[in-house]
Order: sequence, then structure tokens, then C-alpha cells
Amino acid sequence: MRVVENAEELGRIGADLVTEVVGARPAASIVAATGRTPMGLYAELAARRRSGVLDTTAISTVQLDEYLGLERDDRRSLFGWMRRSFLEPLGVSDGRVIRLPLGGDLEEACAAFDRGLEARGPFDLAILGLGRNGHLGFNEPPSHPESSTRMVELSPSTIEANARYWGNGADVPTTAVTLGMRHLLSARAIVLLVSGTSKRTIVHRALEGPVGPGVPASFLQDAANDVTVIVDRAAWADR
Ligand code: F6R
Repeated sequence: MRVVENAEELGRIGADLVTEVVGARPAASIVAATGRTPMGLYAELAARRRSGVLDTTAISTVQLDEYLGLERDDRRSLFGWMRRSFLEPLGVSDGRVIRLPLGGDLEEACAAFDRGLEARGPFDLAILGLGRNGHLGFNEPPSHPESSTRMVELSPSTIEANARYWGNGADVPTTAVTLGMRHLLSARAIVLLVSGTSKRTIVHRALEGPVGPGVPASFLQDAANDVTVIVDRAAWADR
């Protein structure tokens, strides 16, 4: 775990790690969370790309989660947010984005999607944020480590937290699709970014508390692969 001074350093250290992964594997498959926490990291990656330090021409990106029931081009689309903050600044074209299923027979579509993921092998990198309730993606508590890509009901805590993005709680969709825990936990490298005082309680529970479905991020304690948690001082202050 790395404790950093502030959100800016969080972005810089996170970008160092991503730059290292992409340097070693130029065609890396990368899960890129939305939410506020990774925005500094993505801006830093874009700056490095512009200055020629980072070559993202061969990476592919995997969508982590999306609300259900939105019209195309709805301002609240998490894919739209990902496009603005990650795909466009890094020059990742649509053909190099793996998007979640959102319609039709969703259960079957998610199962087919997971079969496709399994055929491709583990993600090279998952860039994740931490929910105030311990979620990763929209794997709301309780979520098991073997859980697959699926439709979920958002918890009241997540709806309240997401109201910061869109205005108020009534603007937040109540259902979503998320990559399952098993795909996230099997990524070759995982970077969990945690920033701000609102994460103080949960970050300690996730990293030091008992491991279990009540705090899905706690399963990172048992993940066999390369997990880096970067926490800023606001989140990691003495309790
Ligand atoms: C967003 C996502 C969520 C967020 C988490 C933290 O795609 O998957 O798990 O990463 O809710 O959100 P922020 O960073 O806004 O505190």
C-alpha cells in the first residue's frame, strides 16, 4: 500500500504504475473505473501521452459498470464519462473498447459476455475506486469473489454517493450492470485508488477488517496477483 499526500500525488503515482504496465505490455487490456477518484490519474496519463512518454495506441479498455435504463447519450451514462475522461484523451477507438451488455435477455447476454472474457484471459490491469460501502465496480455488498457479470440493484449508499455526480438522488438510476468480482480479482494487476475523508472508515475495513462479501473490496486482501492500493492522507488519517 502507498499512502500519498493528496489527490494530485495519487494521480501521479497511479499514472506511474499504469505507464509501467503499458510499457511492459503495449496491448494491455485495462478496466477503467469512472467516479471522481481516478480523474487525476487519467488526466496525467493524457498528459504523458501528449508528451510522448506513454504510447496507448495498442491498449484495449473494458467497461467496468453502467447504469441501466438510460437513453443513448444520456448525460449520466458512465460510458459517456469513460469516453470523455479516458478513451478520447488516450486515443482509444471504439473498436478497442469492450462494452457491457445492457439490453435483451440480460442474464443470457451477461453469461455470453463472461464466456467471451474467459476466452480472452485475465485483464492486464484493473483501475478501481472504492465505494463508501466497500463496493468495487457496482459489486454491492454482499458480493462474492466468484460473482459474474450481472445486473445489480444499487444500494442506498451508492445512490446517495452517486447523487454527487448528477444532481440529487432522484437522478441516479437504481439498477446497473457490473463486471463480476471474479474478473476483477483475477486481473494480473489491480490498482485501487482511495481518496478523501468520506472513505476513511471503509478503507480501513476493506484493507484491515475481516474478509467477506459484506465488504467486497476486502477480497483484495486475498488476491493472489499484484494489488497496489494508493490512498491519500485524507482517506488514511489516524482514526
Ligand atoms: C465507477 C465505479 C465505482 C467507483 C466508486 C468510487 O465506475 O465503478 O465503484 O469507483 O464508487 O467512486 P468515487 O471515485 O467517485 O468516490
